[in-house]
Amino acid sequence: MRRPLVAGNWKMNGSREMTQTLVSGICSGLAEGGGADVVICPPYVYLDLCRQVVGEAPIAVGAQDLDAHEAGAFTGAVAADMLVDAGCDFVIVGHSERRSLYGEGDADVGVKVAVAVAKGLTPIICVGETREERESDVTAEVVCRQLDAVIAEAGIDVFPKALVAYEPVWAIGTGLTATDEQAQEVHAVIRARIAGTSEEAAGGTRILYGGSVKPDNAAGLFSQPDIDGGLIGGASLKAADFLGIIKAATQ
Ligand code: PGA
Repeated sequence: MRRPLVAGNWKMNGSREMTQTLVSGICSGLAEGGGADVVICPPYVYLDLCRQVVGEAPIAVGAQDLDAHEAGAFTGAVAADMLVDAGCDFVIVGHSERRSLYGEGDADVGVKVAVAVAKGLTPIICVGETREERESDVTAEVVCRQLDAVIAEAGIDVFPKALVAYEPVWAIGTGLTATDEQAQEVHAVIRARIAGTSEEAAGGTRILYGGSVKPDNAAGLFSQPDIDGGLIGGASLKAADFLGIIKAATQ
């Protein structure tokens, strides 16, 4: 049985005050009982504060991206070692907004995954199709291409040390969610693709669903056999909603 994991992706939202309030709220709600791994991914500048507010609570901190370079003349970039130094254990890699707005390609994502794992970070590798791709019936092809690039650049052995997040682009921030069956179908494709190279890696890989997950649709999604938790955007910005989703993952 794979332990569920729920990660909150704050995207470019927050302030010091909001970090303090939101993280304290999540911590006190969680004190009532665990059962799922919980990760919060604030913007870089709040990582340190997040770690401080989390204290001894069973919540890990993650970044939303990393730069693949080691160090040096890369203005604006943040390296894996710096994330580790700031107390991060996780890092989101290849989010669809990074791919579409910042031009990250499949191979770039694979290289970042390799660097993250080499530095001891657990990457949350995002894959997913656009609405046009789903309508053209190439969802499986797109997701497999994105996974294959990770296998090519980082190797199959990274998978049990990573998480995959299936995030259909058309469901992110839109209020449209994949149905439980649509999500399960793609999760099974992802697991089968990894199993094609290593059965063992596939069995040990946690695959999260992301895209308009809310407290009222989380339980159905998480009850699917290949859905091991969620990557939560909008609903991770409200303690009550995020806690409701965590609760759904523990049932
Ligand atoms: P959403 O975002 O939950 O707001 O749809 C998910 C994500 O982008 O990770």
